[in-house]
Amino acid sequence: MYIYRISQEHRDIAKAEIETLIGPVVSLDDNLFLVESYGPKAKKLAYTKQVYKILASGTDTQELLSSPIEDNYRFDAIGEETLPLADRLYALHQKKVSLEQYDHHYVLFSLETTYFTEEIYVNTDTGQERRAHQRAYNHPTSMHPLLAKAMINLSGATSFIDPFCGAGGILIEGAKMGYEVLGADISEEMIERAEQNLKALGYIAQLSVQDALTIESEYEAVVTDLPYGKNSVLESKELYDQFLEHAKNITSTLVLGSQQGSLTDLHGWTEAYRFPVYVHKSLTREILVLKKG
Ligand SMILES: C[S@@+](CC[C@H](N)C(=O)[O-])C[C@H]1O[C@@H](n2cnc3c(N)ncnc32)[C@H](O)[C@@H]1O
Repeated sequence: MYIYRISQEHRDIAKAEIETLIGPVVSLDDNLFLVESYGPKAKKLAYTKQVYKILASGTDTQELLSSPIEDNYRFDAIGEETLPLADRLYALHQKKVSLEQYDHHYVLFSLETTYFTEEIYVNTDTGQERRAHQRAYNHPTSMHPLLAKAMINLSGATSFIDPFCGAGGILIEGAKMGYEVLGADISEEMIERAEQNLKALGYIAQLSVQDALTIESEYEAVVTDLPYGKNSVLESKELYDQFLEHAKNITSTLVLGSQQGSLTDLHGWTEAYRFPVYVHKSLTREILVLKKG
């Protein structure tokens, strides 16, 4: 068993990402989840910050602290003061402690049950260097790279099309994850920008200038940030309605960013998840995961 620690932002999305890529979760705390497995896919999660392997659990802290440990370690406790616990741990083990250059990081979680764990993964990807203003060509409505990455994870797919790809923010994340990505946009200028942005980071994607409502082939998933009506929700509604209808011909999984309140009629798609994401005071995005049937 493992404990996944998520970042505080977008807690519900973080949980859904784990459920989609790894499996069911049990909530231990605001940002800690108990999960049965851990594998390469866990490293793709956008909002999981650390994974801990449970070495022992129970209610007897003294017994847990006496679990075998390795040399050159660091110890921390969560939910209880570290120092008195660390003193007890040092007394129990004649091992080398190293707070900076450690090979093993043990963490004790004092929750309803106490867990003695070893940290096995730290996610250092903040997406910062891939943010829109850092790109060769910038687009004002581009979403944060970590949100794009989470949307891809919510699709559960390893290849997808973004039919409103704009400057390519979602495609960049998909390409970085090693997935096969395709992009289309009605604007030739946007496709050129997407191409430049991908190229600047050393990625390639199949891109085409096309109206999303005429796309014909079938895809494992559609992951996209729909265009937003500049003046009103109603402005985008007609395109959204047409796209939901058309998308039935091209995929069985849709992960959509849209303007909150504009996707009410789902045209027969089943809602798996819906999350509000605050952008600025006049725009809240909604992330929706829809399944066919
Ligand atoms: C919200 S932006 C996408 C932003 C993108 N996620 C990014 O990171 O840059 C929406 C894009 O949809 C495109 N678009 C609008 N109507 C379209 C249509 N009918 N078919 C395809 N693309 C369309 C616009 O040109 C615009 O680039």
